[in-house]
Amino acid sequence: MKIFLKILVIIVAFVAVIAVVILLLQFIPYGKNHVNPPVVKEPTWDSPTTRILAQRACFDCHSNETTWPWYSNIAPMSWLIQKDVDEGRQKLNFSEWQRAASFDDLDEIGEVIREGEMPPFVYYPMHPEARLNEAEKQALISGLENTVR
Ligand code: HEC
Repeated sequence: MKIFLKILVIIVAFVAVIAVVILLLQFIPYGKNHVNPPVVKEPTWDSPTTRILAQRACFDCHSNETTWPWYSNIAPMSWLIQKDVDEGRQKLNFSEWQRAASFDDLDEIGEVIREGEMPPFVYYPMHPEARLNEAEKQALISGLENTVR
């Protein structure tokens, strides 16, 4: 019985320490910059379908129209999401297309979709709507190719 009590105390202490650590993480200022800057210039989409597919699969990280979910306010998820959006927007931003000329390799867009690199796999569990079937992937790739040419 005594050993059982000891184990219980250890478990409770362990859980308490983890809770305190998670609580303290919330005070780290990084990950709270949930700003959606204005949409400056979108590409001239070849069709509304292309935009809808891009919106479903890419806009959260590659536009200024990010939907920030509730868990984006909770560290450590907030850090990963902030980093994805900051880096994603910097590489390719469908809301600041005037910068697209500086994007060195627009062909890469089709490639990352074809190879399943984008969206990143960690994104799918919370965003099942971003999972495109083969036909949708093809439509997005050729649509984006027609859009950027
Ligand atoms: C969850 C966030 C997220 C989503 C959704 C997402 N991306 Fe990305 N993307 C990133 C990040 C972060 C980077 C920069 C880091 C990297 O290259 O892995 C990036 C980089 C890229 C690059 C540059 C690749 C390179 O090697 O430089 C392209 C092109 C791209 N994404 C296209 C897309 C397209 C097209 C979609 C939609 C089908 C999409 N991404 C969806 C986060 C995302």
